[in-house]
Amino acid sequence: MDMPQLNTIEIAARASVTGGRDRSIGAILIDAGRLSVENAERIIREQKSKGLRFGDAAIQMGLLKQHDIDFALARQFDYPYLSASDDSLSHGLVAAYKPFAPMVEQLRALRSQLMVRWFSDDPARHALAIVSAEPGEGRSFIAANLAVVFSQLGERTLLIDADLRRPSIHQYFKLDPRAPGLSSVLSGRANGEAIIRIPSLVGLSVLPAGAVPPNPQELLARPQFARLVEQVSKSFDIVIIDTPSASSAADAAIAAARAQAALVVGRRDQTPIATIQSLAGNLAGAGTNVVGAVLNSF
Ligand SMILES: Nc1ncnc2c1ncn2[C@@H]1O[C@H](COP(=O)(O)OP(=O)(O)OP(=O)(O)O)[C@@H](O)[C@H]1O
Ligand SMILES: [Mg+2]
Repeated sequence: MDMPQLNTIEIAARASVTGGRDRSIGAILIDAGRLSVENAERIIREQKSKGLRFGDAAIQMGLLKQHDIDFALARQFDYPYLSASDDSLSHGLVAAYKPFAPMVEQLRALRSQLMVRWFSDDPARHALAIVSAEPGEGRSFIAANLAVVFSQLGERTLLIDADLRRPSIHQYFKLDPRAPGLSSVLSGRANGEAIIRIPSLVGLSVLPAGAVPPNPQELLARPQFARLVEQVSKSFDIVIIDTPSASSAADAAIAAARAQAALVVGRRDQTPIATIQSLAGNLAGAGTNVVGAVLNSF
């Protein structure tokens, strides 16, 4: 008999301290299960008697840590961000789980560079392929996290997994690898419904690779792919395309040509600069805008 009553109390307590966009830090932390109502009241008493800010009082009392305050501030400013205990997505999405980590600062700096150098209001400049010469240099990691930081800026963002050989984007978002994806769209077996909205990251949608096809390069070369990129560029502000390694097949070059732009990734201390330059040169020679190169260190 206790349970329904407990539920009611919990909901009532939340209702009394939450609501509206200007939710207090305490309310946000209660909602997230990081702070009890009792402790929130103790903090408020301390805060008032000593003239402190809520966060400072809470930290002094040992009831909250700085990362709790950062979490609440992020929510307060409508900054989509996941708590460490939320396992709905892969923790490899550092931009979603640790938006204050130095690496994510760098991703935001990269985002700014890309905004200045490539993306614009013109739908012809909404897509960008993430390419690298060799396997395992971090293309998918950068593509996925870059898509997250763009969505956090309020941009309608689509991440497409055009690595139809060894797709991995579905793992970051814990999507069913058997669900329809790009390969289904290109072979005429699916349409827009293959694009999945990520509910916890407002503004972010993903088109996973779908079933691995026997003819990836042929599928990407089809006019359907060009049409798809054109269509989604009208309904999304930012379209990030992950690709297979450029050394293994022409898929990456085809995806980059459809996007009209590429960001070249190299692995610090591993990828020879000459390799990065050669890939960039080949893409540029084929008419793709090489927007920049990043050295990924991990
Ligand atoms: N900057 C980074 N910080 C931490 N881990 C990273 C970073 N970049 C890549 N990784 C990790 O390194 C591994 C390889 O990265 P990723 O899968 O993104 O590379 P890839 O170039 O897409 O590889 P593939 O050729 O298999 O498609 C992954 O486990 C990824 O999480
Ligand atoms: Mg990859």
